[in-house]
Amino acid sequence: MSFTGTGRNGVCLLGEAYGEVEKKRNKPFQGPAGAVLARMLAMMGLDRDDFLITNVHWDQPPHNREPSDAEIEQDRPKWEALLDQNKIKVVAPLGNVPMRAVLEMDGIQGKRGYCYWQDRLGCYVLPTVHPAFIMRGNANWTALWLHDIQKALDIAQEGPPKAPDR
Ligand code: URA
Repeated sequence: MSFTGTGRNGVCLLGEAYGEVEKKRNKPFQGPAGAVLARMLAMMGLDRDDFLITNVHWDQPPHNREPSDAEIEQDRPKWEALLDQNKIKVVAPLGNVPMRAVLEMDGIQGKRGYCYWQDRLGCYVLPTVHPAFIMRGNANWTALWLHDIQKALDIAQEGPPKAPDR
């Protein structure tokens, strides 16, 4: 099973696919992007183990490319079942690839921070940017990322905003 954490806070952080370190450990977000993710959560006093953390593809694509649609569809039943089993209330796709897989929408920078309802999954979706993006010269996005994660936690705990943002 390719996930970490308990999901006891009701939020799933949904990434793309394994890199080299993740492939070796058979667990998501173990390498440099995982370190950035954990550090940002720690800035808010949060523990990564309270989140359910998984990817839309449960392996490392050849040459570290983005996971293809076929690779994502192959693993979709597994991560969707995981969301259900853990009674996840809010999914936070990290970047364009998982946002497309969950919401069939592109353009993460314009969509992040808004709350969407995903009827088929029966949960809210709060997209944000990928920690690897923040790591690669975009540290000024850290505050926005933290804001988005806090909003996901608030919705998981207190229920939806009065009306969905969009
Ligand atoms: N990037 C991801 O999206 N997932 C991982 O597990 C590691 C890096």
